Amino acid sequence: MADQGLRRVIVPAAGLGTRFLPATKAIPKEMLPIVDKPTLQYIVEEAVAAGVKDVVLVNGRGKSSIEDHFDVGFELETTLSERKKTSDVDMLRAISKMVNLVSVRQKHPLGLGHAVLCGKPVIGNEPFGVMLGDDMVDSEVPAILQLWKAFQKHQQAVIALMEVPASETHLYGIAAGEKIDERTIRITHIVEKPKSNPPSNLAVIGRYVLPPRIFDYLETQERGVGGEIQLTDSLAKLQQSEGLLGYRFDGIRHDAGDKFGYLKANIAYALKRPELKAQLLKYFKEVLEAKA
Ligand code: UTP
Repeated sequence: MADQGLRRVIVPAAGLGTRFLPATKAIPKEMLPIVDKPTLQYIVEEAVAAGVKDVVLVNGRGKSSIEDHFDVGFELETTLSERKKTSDVDMLRAISKMVNLVSVRQKHPLGLGHAVLCGKPVIGNEPFGVMLGDDMVDSEVPAILQLWKAFQKHQQAVIALMEVPASETHLYGIAAGEKIDERTIRITHIVEKPKSNPPSNLAVIGRYVLPPRIFDYLETQERGVGGEIQLTDSLAKLQQSEGLLGYRFDGIRHDAGDKFGYLKANIAYALKRPELKAQLLKYFKEVLEAKA
């Protein structure tokens, strides 16, 4: 089948973000900045770089700031124009033109699986991507595009995997399977947040390319770990019926939904900025010397 490209991705951003309270009382965690851009903008930029046309944003309570961020900011642009801040105006206009954002609402945060199901009416009957709104991947080739290529090659659902320390397997969906090539496995087991006996140390990371058939499983999915409708449980059903691949993507992943992951992401992305790198390294040196 000719590769038409990945057209649509669902970006769930309707969680409560309890790990970041009180910051997330009024602001969604996906809007917290990494240096000077909201986490979600990095995710949308990855989608755009992969050729995605429509981003289906699953939003919840208090998420209008996300829509505003990707919309035209008429008053702000006018004020900045009057003050001759041309580069700022250009930057804001570029954000509003970045992508076609379609917003759907998850009325209650019933879990990631339920959030993905909320995107069904927009997706229709074609394969689609899922990109978690708080999971960042810094890579040369966009992570979602790496998965799409594997999907095209094998004509099977693909999920992103990453090795994690044994002490962290209880925090993730964990998958195990048979090796196809250096990066790809045919998944034989997948389980959400195993308390003991994880099938491997390969954790499921927030990038997926899925066939519309996943919605059939999500529609009848009973609640799982934490009382939530888990995407992993429906992926296990998909694996049983038509197979599921895992892909160890090339790139550095940052969990911006976790406090330490968020701090690390800020440092990593600041170090990529020439105007900040030297100052930041100097500051680290001062901190280390003060501790010595
Ligand atoms: P998380 O489990 O990291 O988000 O979900 P959370 O529940 O908001 O986080 P904490 O544990 O309370 O701090 C991963 C992604 O899925 C979205 C979240 O917004 C996040 O981007 N999500 C999660 C939904 O959209 N709906 C849900 O019901 C749950």
